[in-house]
Amino acid sequence: MRVLETIEELRTFRESLGAQSVGLVPTMGALHKGHLSLIGESTHHNAHTIVSIFVNPTQFGQNEDLSTYPRTLEQDLALCENLGVSAVFAPNVAQMYPSDDEITILPPKMMGYVLEGFDRPTHFAGVLQVVLKLFMLAQPHRAYFGKKDAQQVLIVRKMVEDLHLPLEIVVCPIVRDDDGLALSSRNVYLSPQERESALCIPRTIYAIESAIAKGVYEVSALEHLARENLTGVHIFYAYFCDRALAPITHIRQNESLFLLAVRVGRTRLLDNLWC
Ligand code: PAF
Repeated sequence: MRVLETIEELRTFRESLGAQSVGLVPTMGALHKGHLSLIGESTHHNAHTIVSIFVNPTQFGQNEDLSTYPRTLEQDLALCENLGVSAVFAPNVAQMYPSDDEITILPPKMMGYVLEGFDRPTHFAGVLQVVLKLFMLAQPHRAYFGKKDAQQVLIVRKMVEDLHLPLEIVVCPIVRDDDGLALSSRNVYLSPQERESALCIPRTIYAIESAIAKGVYEVSALEHLARENLTGVHIFYAYFCDRALAPITHIRQNESLFLLAVRVGRTRLLDNLWC
């Protein structure tokens, strides 16, 4: 496995692969089983997999956890090597952002500024900035994202469609710990007590899922169920919408989403159901 730290090294490596299929798994490191499942999907379907590991400063707000975000590069490299990754791209900030006055693209007006984008108004512009750079550099045939960050994947998919980028976005299932909590690099911030409180999140997801399976499609009833289950946490949003993030009154199967963001202690946690 190659470890590439500069843009030049990534370009040369990418050129050496020629027309062979390439999958890209963009990450901010601190890899967990959720990331590993994306990497597994990519290695299964592509001749080569490139994993990027870059804690992207432009997607963090001023009072967010950029400086404390977990960084576990040595461990991440070992995991990637075990999974048959061809190259890890782990640049520093100066490599990715040589100018402090860069051209950026804006997320869509509605999808980019509701929910996560409402509480974190610069977040998705930062995500798109780095993801577009990674796409241009790695030139993947496919890029792999988790359903866990639903709004992110929908906005990235829209960027690919709107800018006619020649790659496929592959959306992979949420991976959960044994206690049901969706895997996230930020789960390490939770104390044992906070983790216990956070378990109302998967309980809510399962409750909504089973109500829908029993034929409860009315959003007002499902919202009531969500609020009954979400106890002891601060709710940022518990929102039913379609895949363009517009609000809905009834679930339409395979077209709807339930998006949830809560704060437990000082940690913001996301979960969702593609229903
Ligand atoms: O989902 C993430 O880890 C990040 O937002 C991403 C896509 C790697 C961009 O920095």
